[in-house]
Amino acid sequence: MMGKKIFSGVQPTGNLHLGNYLGAIKNFVELSNDDSNDCIFCVVDLHAITSKQDPIKLKDNIRETVATFIACGIDPKKNIIFNQSSVSAHSEVAWLLSCVARMGWLNRMTQFKEKAGKDKEKASIGLYSYPILMAADILLYDATHVPVGEDQKQHLELCRDIAQKFNNDFGVDDFLKVPEPLIQKEFSRIMSLKDGTKKMSKSEPSDLSRINLTDNEDLIINKIKKSKTDPLLLPSDVNELKERPEAKNLLGIYSSLTNSSLDKSVKEFNGKNFSEFKKKLSQVLVEKISPISKEIQKLINDKGFLDKILLDGHKKASYIASNKLKKMQEIIGF
Ligand code: AMP
Ligand code: TRP
Repeated sequence: MMGKKIFSGVQPTGNLHLGNYLGAIKNFVELSNDDSNDCIFCVVDLHAITSKQDPIKLKDNIRETVATFIACGIDPKKNIIFNQSSVSAHSEVAWLLSCVARMGWLNRMTQFKEKAGKDKEKASIGLYSYPILMAADILLYDATHVPVGEDQKQHLELCRDIAQKFNNDFGVDDFLKVPEPLIQKEFSRIMSLKDGTKKMSKSEPSDLSRINLTDNEDLIINKIKKSKTDPLLLPSDVNELKERPEAKNLLGIYSSLTNSSLDKSVKEFNGKNFSEFKKKLSQVLVEKISPISKEIQKLINDKGFLDKILLDGHKKASYIASNKLKKMQEIIGF
């Protein structure tokens, strides 16, 4: 069987966390370890500026995202790693596709509603048209599969609709490849350590709500110790977790890190108290995250190395993207 063409993106907005890792980057690593796949991982800096960014910090965050990819296990020799703004075709194709996408489709996007909040009038146009740029990213590279966390599912459905409409409008069957999302079946949404009903997020003001991939051992242990729980003992049955979001999230994190099912973890900690479970969870987290964190710290000091990876990635990605853009321009009539 032919391998998959993988494309995914991560915003360089700082604080990459356990949710990014378990929901997306862990999957990138597994896919990139299969030599039959062609993988492209993009630091989506154009997406990052849909909300205000400090220019100095943005530059550092771009490098830190590259360092994180590598520290988690993506081999820059075998896979393309580049930053979106270095390939101008992304912006150009986003414009072409924004003339294909319909307002009604974008108006349904829940992420925009969440991020824009009550004051929609003050949100940037970029925040609104964000999913069209994301479609451009994916369609430029004929990606067949896109690994993402659950929160990106709706954007991928929009990307599929845009590809199909373009192909139909211009009578070019299969020119834009309709991609499949790859979303983890379990644990595709890691929740805040402070509130099991809210997504773990980079932008949450409390750092105690997330485990950052740059956290050291002490920080990890302290954050797990302080994480929210409930007054009960750990349950004997998965169904009891429905009403216990914090217990469910912590057991989910443990299961995902140990590659076991939620059912198995529930059996392991049946009837135990949280402090005993938290000790074991911290241990597993430290084993997984500490080496990543140390490697990130090491790599971010080597700016030359990271910039070289971005430059190599830029050359390879530009070649693919400019060919696709040229064909697209011809189809449109330019
Ligand atoms: P972002 O930081 O928004 O660019 O997200 C990068 C990737 O991490 C995307 O595939 C997201 O779907 C995924 N992701 C972000 N937050 C979480 C979370 N709390 N749980 C699972 N996946 C997440
Ligand atoms: N929107 C994605 C997120 O916030 C990031 C992203 C941008 C992306 N372009 C992409 C993901 C293309 C997959 C494919 O997480």
